[in-house]
Amino acid sequence: MKTILIMNGPNLSMLGKRDPKHYGSGTLSDLENACINKGIELGVKVQCFQSESESAIIRKLHTSMGVIDGIVLNAGAYTHYSIAIRDAIELIRIPVIEVHLSDIHNREDFRNTSVIEAVCVEQVCGMGVKGYLVAMEKLVGKYMTDDSSVNALSDAAVPDTSTPEALLGEERKALNEIDKEIFVLFERRMKHIDRIAKIKAEAGMPTQVPSREAEILERVGNSVEEQYSSAAQALMQELLRLSRERQNEINKG
Ligand code: DQA
Repeated sequence: MKTILIMNGPNLSMLGKRDPKHYGSGTLSDLENACINKGIELGVKVQCFQSESESAIIRKLHTSMGVIDGIVLNAGAYTHYSIAIRDAIELIRIPVIEVHLSDIHNREDFRNTSVIEAVCVEQVCGMGVKGYLVAMEKLVGKYMTDDSSVNALSDAAVPDTSTPEALLGEERKALNEIDKEIFVLFERRMKHIDRIAKIKAEAGMPTQVPSREAEILERVGNSVEEQYSSAAQALMQELLRLSRERQNEINKG
């Protein structure tokens, strides 16, 4: 399955608090959830990433090589002056669609120029959140059809089973693919935890609900083959511990 990365740059974490005339009233989570649902409809995996920092955006672009098949990028204000982001887009050789919620061509003059436009396959602007969904459709329909895209290649590769070393190599390759998927899901899970922590903090509710944790563990134990049941529960216990830790961290901050 192919993967689309939804990347948002500075100040897009503040959607919902920014000028609704340009950016609408929804939050970044609303936007990301709309993209995740679109991904289900299009049959692609969706990874979401947001950062205020130019270096984090560049690093994420670099580490997308060999992992991501298409990128929807709203680089925020960096669009107008970051040659470093432009260069990163150019070197990764992944189709990137530049997206803006507002119509940058009909605002202040300094927003009219995009230094990343020339290295992106298309620019979509002025359509609000819908622009991200349109960009995803374009990536899937027009730019990710090539069989040489990263994940298509690994799906199509004929496994070499001639020696134990080759067999082991194939198994490890499969594990790497699975780990990649696990951590995409892990990141999505942690984002939900962050939102839950905020809701609970605002409502003055406790972080820990032991009855719910017991119920989750039972469900997890029953959802895998019996020989993996206690390992799955141990993993879930660790996830619950990390989630509690994260919620406490957010409540403190
Ligand atoms: C924006 C437009 C940029 O000019 C601005 O700096 C942003 C958001 C948009 O989505 O409309 O932060 O990229």
